[in-house]
Amino acid sequence: MADPQKPLLTVRYGLEDSWSLAVAEKAGAYAVARRALSEMQPDAVREEVKKASLRGRGGAGFPAGVKWGFLSPKEGDEVYLVINADESEPGTFKDRTIMDLDPHRLIEGALIACYAIRSHVAYIYVRGELRHSIARLEHALGEARAKGYVGDAPFGVDYPIEIHVHSGAGAYICGEETGLLNSLEGRRGEPRLKPPFPAIKGVFGMPTIVNNVETIASVPDILDLGGAEWAALSRLPGDGGTRLYGISGHVERPGIYEAPVGITMRELLDDYGGGVLNGRPLKAIIPGGSSTPVLDPARLVDAPGEDHPLHRWHGKSELDVPMGVDTYRALGTMLGTCCAIVMDDSINMVDVARNLMRFYRHESCGQCTPCREGTGWLVDILENVCRGTSRPGDVDLLVNVANNMMGNTICAFADGCAMPMLGLVQKFYPEFVEAAKHGLPKGTRHDTTTRDLLEGAA
Ligand SMILES: Cc1cc2nc3c(=O)[nH]c(=O)nc-3n(C[C@H](O)[C@H](O)[C@H](O)COP(=O)(O)O)c2cc1C
Repeated sequence: MADPQKPLLTVRYGLEDSWSLAVAEKAGAYAVARRALSEMQPDAVREEVKKASLRGRGGAGFPAGVKWGFLSPKEGDEVYLVINADESEPGTFKDRTIMDLDPHRLIEGALIACYAIRSHVAYIYVRGELRHSIARLEHALGEARAKGYVGDAPFGVDYPIEIHVHSGAGAYICGEETGLLNSLEGRRGEPRLKPPFPAIKGVFGMPTIVNNVETIASVPDILDLGGAEWAALSRLPGDGGTRLYGISGHVERPGIYEAPVGITMRELLDDYGGGVLNGRPLKAIIPGGSSTPVLDPARLVDAPGEDHPLHRWHGKSELDVPMGVDTYRALGTMLGTCCAIVMDDSINMVDVARNLMRFYRHESCGQCTPCREGTGWLVDILENVCRGTSRPGDVDLLVNVANNMMGNTICAFADGCAMPMLGLVQKFYPEFVEAAKHGLPKGTRHDTTTRDLLEGAA
């Protein structure tokens, strides 16, 4: 049995020039793709990925093997693989480590995934600001093409595969899979109505699988170990493997760590992250990118019924629940991108809300009224609350506006904005009431807006 503590995805990260083909290949790169393409049938590859219970690493946690099974191309259809490397969720910085430190792992994963879904073309859509990742990928692709691993006959097998890197222009909404597809086609990055889902009608109107970078980069290890053994690395059923955990903010050792699925937030913070920065008291943790509702370490899991999925953790702190797609959903939050933001007791949660909501207002594509207007309303109300110029009922109005955004838009952006807003008010209500009365305490970190600075300068 494989050791769950041993790095798999990150095993080559520490090697000198780990991004070069010579180093990566010496350390095992492309051996699995060579074997898969020469010795396995595509259906058998898909079966291993299904057995692995690989949950998508882009945020929603959908099982990759099941998604691949939704494809049913018609005669003459071209199937596409699109790899989502937009990585714009605040607090998230994991996919870029794969592209920067081991781009050949992603290319190997893309070759295997293309073969498994019977695609001959993959696009890697990279967030525009990630110049370094784009350069590393382009360089790695050049090396793989020169060796014949990408092109007309990868590893001598008559199955042409081409991989293209496409740069976005830095819009968060282009991480949403259908906004991404529009952007890839050269249109405005506005999400599409679903159905049809991309597996039926995706890029260029053709069946398309969209997967996150880490999802695809996990595929070589799954085939290497076998799906069942890879799944067993996890501590949770139905959510297999090891994954990348990020931790940033008020933490001693911020960074990206590979660990089995199902470690607890407390383990991530203390054992991997080295605890709260300077030993200060912990106030809150945003668990998986800014769209995931906040965790309050003082709050205890309320799951008295024996049939509740979290019953085993009833009465324990939220930080002690294993981090998995389903466990975190049962906790009323989301695992999201699995990149946590730690906040110590110096942080005011109303200030956090305002900071986050400014981001969502800026990034809303404006297509749907509840999102376009709702994000603006949330910021306006929060600015007033923070300045101490709010009107009676403004905290309730925040909740009302957020509730009216949920589920009423084309894509999940509005939910990703409303859910953390609601979580913050629910868990830190007294702080919102206090700010509504008196404004933010003097000296709060984000108390100065760009407008204040500009007006001050003028
Ligand atoms: C507003 C928004 C932004 C998103 N940004 C990303 C992103 O940057 N990277 C990503 O992989 N998925 C992102 N997603 C999720 C994608 O829509 C999609 O679910 C994912 O790429 C599927 O890959 P997976 O199944 O491998 O996770 C975003 C979703 C929304 C609603």
